[in-house]
Amino acid sequence: MFLEGLAKAKSEIDACLDSALADLPRHRLIDAVRHAVRGGKRMRGYLVLEGAALHGIPASGAVRAAAAVECLHAYSLVHDDLPCMDDDDLRRGMPAVHVKWNEATAVLAGDALQSLAFQILCDSRTCADPDIRGSLARSLAEAAGAAGMALGQAMDLEAETEERTADIDTTTLLQSRKTGMLISWSCRAGPLLAGADPEPLERYAEALGLAYQIADDLLDATGNPELVGKPLRKDSNANKATFVAILGVHESRRQAEALVRRACDALEPYGSEADALRQAAEFAINRTS
Ligand code: IPE
Ligand code: IPE
Ligand code: MG
Ligand code: MG
Ligand code: MG
Repeated sequence: MFLEGLAKAKSEIDACLDSALADLPRHRLIDAVRHAVRGGKRMRGYLVLEGAALHGIPASGAVRAAAAVECLHAYSLVHDDLPCMDDDDLRRGMPAVHVKWNEATAVLAGDALQSLAFQILCDSRTCADPDIRGSLARSLAEAAGAAGMALGQAMDLEAETEERTADIDTTTLLQSRKTGMLISWSCRAGPLLAGADPEPLERYAEALGLAYQIADDLLDATGNPELVGKPLRKDSNANKATFVAILGVHESRRQAEALVRRACDALEPYGSEADALRQAAEFAINRTS
């Protein structure tokens, strides 16, 4: 059931991205942008669409916000894989952009994807109300920027060269920034589009975002490389600040499960209408890629 919903969301988001990327000049930069945005689970976009559906906004109205966050996320992955960051050559089962083209193209494809996210979001087709478009764009900028994902990524890299392993509070903070903030925006976009209170979904997202990154770190430690589609068994050698490094595999898994329970508790006000989001939280920690 959940996987069918995710596949449907993916095809709607991909169609929206295809049309946003149509009519661009012919250039290798654009080829790299198309390559970078292809594939992926589309979990953030799915969360946008489900959060919107919960507030009476149909997919046709929310898909642009979903596509926007997927562009932003794709940019973060292109830069995350660069030699000066995680130095990974495989992404989504395909060569990383800097491997298929070169580093400058990867930097610029990331830049272009970040701009494209805001171009898609700020278009009047996303929402007729300019105040809502403004608050979507502003909150996405906050989530992605100097107090959000970019700062989390900087903290992640900083931790690699620290003598001592980061403690649990520092790790929680950096992970909530590098991964949690985009997931949180994805969950809030639906209520924002509907002019509704985003608070219950914000609480859901806070727990989900952390669980999602713990699951990513567990996949690095224990996942099947053929399924995951990116290099694994790297975090420990790179001295990454992860729950797995501090608590081990078993306890990290337990914490991720507790976070999923907390995420589901936050959905109480929505009753059974939020069942898809409950399944999304289970999927976040049971996924194999
Ligand atoms: C990978 O995110 C990076 C993290 C922030 C954990 P995803 O696992 O959602 O990557 P895709 O989009 O499915 O490739
Ligand atoms: C990435 O975290 C977080 C981002 C903001 C891109 P990771 O570095 O663990 O993500 P993967 O494992 O490369 O996908
Ligand atoms: Mg990284
Ligand atoms: Mg990485
Ligand atoms: Mg990882």
